[in-house]
Amino acid sequence: MKLSVKSKFIELYNSEPLIIHAPGRINLIGEHTDYNNGYVMPAAIHMGVQFAFATSHHTHSLIYSLKYDQFYTLDLNAPDKVENPAWANYFLGIVHQLNAKGLRLENFNCVFDGDLPTGAGLSSSAAMECGFIFGLNEMFQLGLTQFDMIHMAQWAEHNYAGVKCGIMDQFSSMMGKDNHAFMLDCRSLEYEYLPLDLGNYTLLLCDTNVKHSLASSEYNTRRNECQQGVTIISKKFPEVKTLRDVTPVMLTACQQDMPPVIYNRCRFVVEENNRVVEASRDLKKGDLASFGKKMFAAHDGLSKLYEVSCAELDYLVQLATASADILGARMIGGGFGGCTLNLIHQNSVGTFLESARAAYRTKFGIEMSSYIVKPGKGVSVVID
Ligand code: GLA
Repeated sequence: MKLSVKSKFIELYNSEPLIIHAPGRINLIGEHTDYNNGYVMPAAIHMGVQFAFATSHHTHSLIYSLKYDQFYTLDLNAPDKVENPAWANYFLGIVHQLNAKGLRLENFNCVFDGDLPTGAGLSSSAAMECGFIFGLNEMFQLGLTQFDMIHMAQWAEHNYAGVKCGIMDQFSSMMGKDNHAFMLDCRSLEYEYLPLDLGNYTLLLCDTNVKHSLASSEYNTRRNECQQGVTIISKKFPEVKTLRDVTPVMLTACQQDMPPVIYNRCRFVVEENNRVVEASRDLKKGDLASFGKKMFAAHDGLSKLYEVSCAELDYLVQLATASADILGARMIGGGFGGCTLNLIHQNSVGTFLESARAAYRTKFGIEMSSYIVKPGKGVSVVID
């Protein structure tokens, strides 16, 4: 694919481009905690989005999507949101931010393509935003730090894609490291790389190939529900600014003051934050069995308390629970479709996939896809 964006670029523009790779991410544990200032444990993955860039002397910039065989003409002076093509909005949001910071861009040509399935919970949108801003930063020597770019990419997602996401996806795409996950404190943005020594185990994604339409509206609803919880809890405990500050004892003390749904949302977040901290200890000790149990527990909470799972995801996790060779499994990302992440013995991948695919097809009439993922590095220039 690296070659295909490059060769397409040369075919279209007849010049040698700068090549950028921007990865997607998985999340081992810590879901829906990032926008509550909590902990997450993601990793960038080897799959991602590739870009080819070069400056141009035209009066506009031209972006070509190899996947959709579609051009978009971008006016650097008017990066307003568009209806079509939807993918252009990630780039327009970035250009808007760069203009707002008074950074000077020149026109450019760009070709991009990716091997990340979209809507699978693997953050293809963060990869688009991060790869694009990284490429412009390199090309025009804008002097942006990785943290600047992470925040600007998140801004684009909030304001041009309409999802009030946390910081995890953009952070992972930018800061990933080969063979490592990392634990990120979303309050301080302190992070620690954790070597992923999985021995005979491997990370397998099972893609439901469904994306229920309520995904982004329900995502924003969950944020509001968490905020409602904070408002109630902070009446009794004024030191509480976000759900990160809430202990199980505080939450119990406030249970009677809040509607059951709000209580469940808060309970999930408080428990999930604790799980991430404990899971990082498991990983450091090499206790994969204990780590895997936390993945199952996280899924249970996401499904029953936070209610962001769906029948397809629950079913795939149920199949994983029944397999002795899978230590843990859970949905990843925002939810309502996308992938489950399975910590599976490498010798069992083939057998599990064969039976899971057949069972999933019988139950839902849908084909399941799968990917073995390897933790990879963050956005970078590709040198061949
Ligand atoms: C999406 C968001 C992230 C995070 C996850 C849930 O991927 O973009 O910020 O909130 O959902 O953990």
